Amino acid sequence: MCGIVGVVGKPAREVVLNGLKNLEYRGYDSAGIYLNDLQGNEYLTKAVGRISNLEEKLTPDEEGLVGIGHTRWATHGKPTVDNAHPHVSEDGRFYLVHNGVIENYAELKEKYLQDVDFKSTTDTEVVVQLVDKIAREKNLDAFSAFKEALKLVRGSYAFLLVDNTQPDHIFIAKNKSPMMLGIGDGFNIIASDAISVLDQTKTFIDLQDGDVADVTKDNVVIETIDGEKVERKPHTLDIDPNAASKGTYEFYMLKEIDEQPAVMRRLSQDYFDGDDVKVDPAIVDAMAQSDRIYILAAGTSYHAGLVGKNIIEEYADIPVEVGLASEFGYHFPKLSKKPFFIFLSQSGETADSRVVLKQVNERNLPSLTMTNVEGSTLSREATYTMLLEAGPEIAVASTKAYTAQIAVQAILAKAVGEKKNLEKAKNFDLKNQFALAAEGMQELVDGKEKIDELAKKYLSTTRNAFYLGRGVDYAVALEGALKLKEVSYIETEGFAAAELKHGTIALIEKGTPVITLINDPATADLTRGNIQEVESRGANVMTFVAKDFAREGDDVVLPQIDYYLSPLVTAIPAQLIAYYASKNKGLDVDKPRNLAKSVTVE
Ligand code: G6P
Repeated sequence: MCGIVGVVGKPAREVVLNGLKNLEYRGYDSAGIYLNDLQGNEYLTKAVGRISNLEEKLTPDEEGLVGIGHTRWATHGKPTVDNAHPHVSEDGRFYLVHNGVIENYAELKEKYLQDVDFKSTTDTEVVVQLVDKIAREKNLDAFSAFKEALKLVRGSYAFLLVDNTQPDHIFIAKNKSPMMLGIGDGFNIIASDAISVLDQTKTFIDLQDGDVADVTKDNVVIETIDGEKVERKPHTLDIDPNAASKGTYEFYMLKEIDEQPAVMRRLSQDYFDGDDVKVDPAIVDAMAQSDRIYILAAGTSYHAGLVGKNIIEEYADIPVEVGLASEFGYHFPKLSKKPFFIFLSQSGETADSRVVLKQVNERNLPSLTMTNVEGSTLSREATYTMLLEAGPEIAVASTKAYTAQIAVQAILAKAVGEKKNLEKAKNFDLKNQFALAAEGMQELVDGKEKIDELAKKYLSTTRNAFYLGRGVDYAVALEGALKLKEVSYIETEGFAAAELKHGTIALIEKGTPVITLINDPATADLTRGNIQEVESRGANVMTFVAKDFAREGDDVVLPQIDYYLSPLVTAIPAQLIAYYASKNKGLDVDKPRNLAKSVTVE
C-alpha cells in the first residue's frame, strides 16, 4: 500500500515521479509531491487518481534539489486532494509524507492541537502539525522537534519530513512500515521499497524500527528517538532492475504467470545439491522436533499454506494447523507442547502476520518466514528464513509467489521427512517432480489462447462464478476464486465440491460458470458426480483435470504430477482465466480497485 520516495542532492522531480511509478503496483488512489529548489522556491502538488494526473498538474518550472513524494491508499479519510500527502503544517514550514497508521491521532489532536485549523481528515496531518507546534513552542530545530513528536506518536510509520528553513535535509523515521535508505554519489534517496529506485543506486541501508535519521546529500546520521547514534551498515542489493520491468508484456500479471516454470527451475538449482534437498540444518532440526506446525498467512499466501498443510503432513508426518494471521493474532488457539511456526508472506511486511510473530517471539517459540523479500520485516523478526526466489512480483494479484510458496514448503517437508528417516520422504523424488512441474507449467502457459477462449465464452458477462475441488483441489479452488474475483470483479466462491449441494447449489442457474478441478485420485469420480449436479441445473462447467482422470470434452488437461504437488500446475489455468476475464473486460489487471500489494496495516 502507500508508496514513498524522497531524494536530496539531485534534480528531484523525475527521480521521485519515476520512483512512485515503480511503486504504482502496490495500489493507491491519490499522489503528491513537494519540491524545494534550495533557492527559496517550493512547490506542493497533489492529485486524486493516477500519477499521470499529478504530472499534468506540474508546470515545467517546478523542480527541486530536494523532493518528497507519496502515493496514498486511503485509510483515514477519503481519497481527495486535501487528504493526499505531502501534508503541510499550518504555518507552511514543515512538509510530511507517511506510510502506516497513527493509532492515537485523535488523542494527539485533542490534547495538543485544538487550536489548529486542519486541512485534511488524515491521521498524518496530526503529526506534521505536532512537529510544528513542538518546534515553535520549545524553540527546537526540526530534527529535535521531530524526535520529540515521535515520542508521543503510537502506530506504524515511515515518515519523510522537510523543514523549509533548512530544506537541504530530509528527516526520516521508521516504525513497522518498510523504508530503505539508498546511498548515492552526491545524493541520497529514501523509498518504501528498494525496487522503486534501483535505477538510482544499488547500495542500501535497511532502517530498523525505532530509527530516525537526518539525511543530506552526502551525509546520513541515524539515531534512536532518544538521540543515541546508531550504526547501520549499507549493503548492495543484487537485483536486476529489468526483473521489475514489464518488457513486452501489456501487464505484469501475465509476465509473472509466464515466469513460473523459470522460478521452479531456479528453486531446483538453489535448494538442491544434486538430487538431494538442501535446507539449513538448523531449520530442519527445529521443525523435526516439533509436534505441530502452525502456518500463518493472509490472502493468497494463506491459500498456499492450505496446500502446504497437505504436503507437510504427508511427507514430514507432522500435524499442521493453518491460520489466518488476522484471526490468530487475537485468538491464539491452545498450542501444542512443541509448536513450530511458519509465516508465509510474499512481501514479508503484512501487518496481520507481524501481530502473530510478535507474540510468537514473546513466547520464545521457533519460527520460520518463507518470503520473497530478503531483509523484509517478517524475515528479520523470525528465527529462520527461506526465500521464495520468485523475483519481484509487481501485479497486485499474487501468482508466482503462490507457486513458489508451495514449492518451498515441499522442499522443507522432504528435508524434515528425511531427517526423521521416513521412507515416504526418502522416496519422494522432488527434484524430478519439480522438473515435471516446470515442464507442465510451460505446456499450460504455451496453451494460454485456449484459456482466453474459455474466459471469453463463459466469463465475459457473468455476475458470479464458482470453483469446485476436493482435497488439494479444494485449496486451489479457494485461490482460483480469489484470483478471479480480485482482478475481474466477478463474484466467485470456491467450494469443497460436495459441499455445494448443502446450500449454495441454490445459486446455480442457467449459464452460471462453474470451474471444476480434478487431481485427487480418492475423489475424482465423486467430483464428476458433482459436475452432473450443477450441469443438470444449467451451469456452464469448465473442467481442469489431471491427465490420468481426463475424459473427452474436458477443457484443460493438466500434466500429471504428484497429487500433493498438483496445485503447482492447476494454478496456471486458474491464474490465466482470471487474467483474461479481467483483460477482456478492459480492466487494469495489475491494479485492481481498492487493493494493495502489501498490506502494512491491520
Ligand atoms: C494483499 C495482496 C495479496 C496477498 C496478501 C498477503 O492482500 O493483495 O495478493 O496475498 O496481501 O500478502 P503477503 O505479502 O503477506 O503474501
